[in-house]
Amino acid sequence: MKRTKMCTAAVVAAVAALSLAACGGGAAESPSAAGETSGSATEAVDVSDAETIFKLAFNQTDQHPQYIAAKQLGEDLYEATDGRYAIEVYPNEELGTQSDVVQNLSDGSVEMMYIGGPVLESFNEDFIVFNLPYVFDSPEKQAEVFADEAVTGELFSSLEDSKNISVLAALHAGVRNVYNSKKAIVEPSDLDGLKIRVQQSDSQVAMIEAMGAVASPMGQGEVYSALQTGALDGAENNETVFDALKHDEVAKHYSYTRHLMIPDYLLINAETLAAMPDADREAFLELIPSTVESANAGFIEFAAESRAAAEKLGATFNDDVNVGAFKELVAPLVESSVNNPVRQKLYDAIQAANAS
Ligand code: GCU
Repeated sequence: MKRTKMCTAAVVAAVAALSLAACGGGAAESPSAAGETSGSATEAVDVSDAETIFKLAFNQTDQHPQYIAAKQLGEDLYEATDGRYAIEVYPNEELGTQSDVVQNLSDGSVEMMYIGGPVLESFNEDFIVFNLPYVFDSPEKQAEVFADEAVTGELFSSLEDSKNISVLAALHAGVRNVYNSKKAIVEPSDLDGLKIRVQQSDSQVAMIEAMGAVASPMGQGEVYSALQTGALDGAENNETVFDALKHDEVAKHYSYTRHLMIPDYLLINAETLAAMPDADREAFLELIPSTVESANAGFIEFAAESRAAAEKLGATFNDDVNVGAFKELVAPLVESSVNNPVRQKLYDAIQAANAS
């Protein structure tokens, strides 16, 4: 029980930081590079002699603000615990796809990871509400919902007993749009017959099919070669993945369907967290909000830089999209997914935030 309460407290603090960053406060006041929000950020600390090193799995590059923030978290943890704990971040899917790694996290062979929201649906389907298309009106509204512990507390601690997984924080992970190797997408009919990669969850498959495409769920690391060989026509993601994972080399038409704004979560194995001495665990949890703030602030800038870099490579960005038509097509999916009281409460909280 103690474990649950502590995680919940960390989540509250973390989402409050997310709220700040998404509202512009954190981003505006933070130094430009992610990770610089913490005092010791600029000097790298050698943590290799820490007594315990948590492995943290990440499926993107070491340029990503989430990587930089996690590395900083590891160094700060090392200092805060006098070298008893540190974190080593493994980027580029080195430890496996998110859906494989989360199993390892559950059994304790990997201690920490970032995970896209849809992958958690296989453990608790109620996570689906935050992964539905067009539900959040803006990053600010998304942050407002995550900041309300009365809304998210139960969901975020729901995997502790069943899967041994604690959700430490929810992070802003951009707005997702469709891109492909063939043409700009304006109307849903433009997606007709196009094979589009989605994240590995039923909700994502149903969503892209409702939008008019053929769904192909797979781990992120396989997408580049599938685009290159033509096994895939396209994918859907934010600008950072489009450029950093070089999808812009092989699928040059990026269209602002703006269909998703889904969080990434920072997870830890619950027993690992519970096994830390109280003072070390508290020090660790206190570091989470600045980690989130740093990652979120860095994300906004990284997305803009990614778009500019992709344009340099010859990718085109189309903002002339009939978003209303896509919204209409996915509305039944949203309605049928909000089908129990837990999800209804989450959905109502989103609507209330949107209306406020
Ligand atoms: C984003 C998100 C990741 C997710 C990825 C994907 O990059 O931040 O968590 O895994 O998209 O589409 O697989």
